[in-house]
Amino acid sequence: MGRTAAPAEARRTNDADWRGGRVPMFIHYGGEDVLEVAKQAYLMYFSENGLGPRAFGSLAKFESEVVAMGLGLLHGGPQACGAMTTGGTESIFLAVKCARDRALARRPGMGKPRIVMPQSAHPAFDKAAYFLGLEPVRTPLGADFRADVAAMRAALTPDTAMLVGSAPSFPHGVVDPIPELAALAREQGTWMHVDACVGGYFAPFARELGADIPDFDFAVEGVTSISADLHKYGYTAKGASTLFFADPESFALMGYFFDNWPRGQYFTHTLVGTRAGGAIAAAWAVMNYLGKDGYLRVTQRVLATRRAMQTGLDALGLPTFGARSCPSSPSARRRATWPPSARE
Ligand SMILES: Cc1ncc(COP(=O)(O)O)c(C=O)c1O
Repeated sequence: MGRTAAPAEARRTNDADWRGGRVPMFIHYGGEDVLEVAKQAYLMYFSENGLGPRAFGSLAKFESEVVAMGLGLLHGGPQACGAMTTGGTESIFLAVKCARDRALARRPGMGKPRIVMPQSAHPAFDKAAYFLGLEPVRTPLGADFRADVAAMRAALTPDTAMLVGSAPSFPHGVVDPIPELAALAREQGTWMHVDACVGGYFAPFARELGADIPDFDFAVEGVTSISADLHKYGYTAKGASTLFFADPESFALMGYFFDNWPRGQYFTHTLVGTRAGGAIAAAWAVMNYLGKDGYLRVTQRVLATRRAMQTGLDALGLPTFGARSCPSSPSARRRATWPPSARE
């Protein structure tokens, strides 16, 4: 290889044409302008490390503002808090860890902690259960492909540490009945996690554009934590997700502190240690570049694409499921708070 990275470009020849719309997942493309902003910010903070918030106060401030913006979108109350992680899997992993630790602390003598979730939940929950020593329990879906609340209730035991609902689920794109699941979790004194990795930065804007999206966030009493990926419909660089908690006690379970070695104190909120400063900076830059109007504009494009696909499928006589109402003109329903008041 010469003095540049140019030869790497040649390796792309057989990759999927994502700019041409050939990849229905993996990449969330908000347009060239958004990509350019993300790249500029990423390169600006290419070398900085999110592991050192005191050394890189800029990154710590970006992160706290990103978290504040996310909480503003997801109706976080005054007690709500959160942190950035490197992706949906890490957010889910940490939520599972917090739920496990809370259950073990509250119920001494309990058996192996269980995660009860609908069949459509993301594999990251089983992966986390595998690594963290929990028992994953998947329950059948209802006829509408959403979580069947009765089936989840039937799966509960005194060892249940966490209930899960998705907003939306990856396989079917439908939002689970979060209010009913959260009520069940409250009744049982169990942690309720909403996996909004896909919907967290999409649903608030789609709803404002009139899409019929059921309640799924902290507006629902009993929701303990929410995962929401910035590197999906937040349109930021890969390596950026958020994990939010309804209260600081739950959030505190996420941190890890260690000092039994010769190098002093070590503390992280996240599973990983080193975190790309670029991913944190790019998230902040894209959120501020797009702002509410920009997100509404990009979300409108996604909704229009969905409508076009629905029309085409209808014309072919192919059945579809999920909400059929996908309005073409904005009709505000519940306003997302954007930008929210800053939380430091
Ligand atoms: C609903 C849902 N949850 C979690 C994840 C995991 O996210 P990541 O691939 O960023 O780890 C995904 C990924 O597609 C997802 O669709």
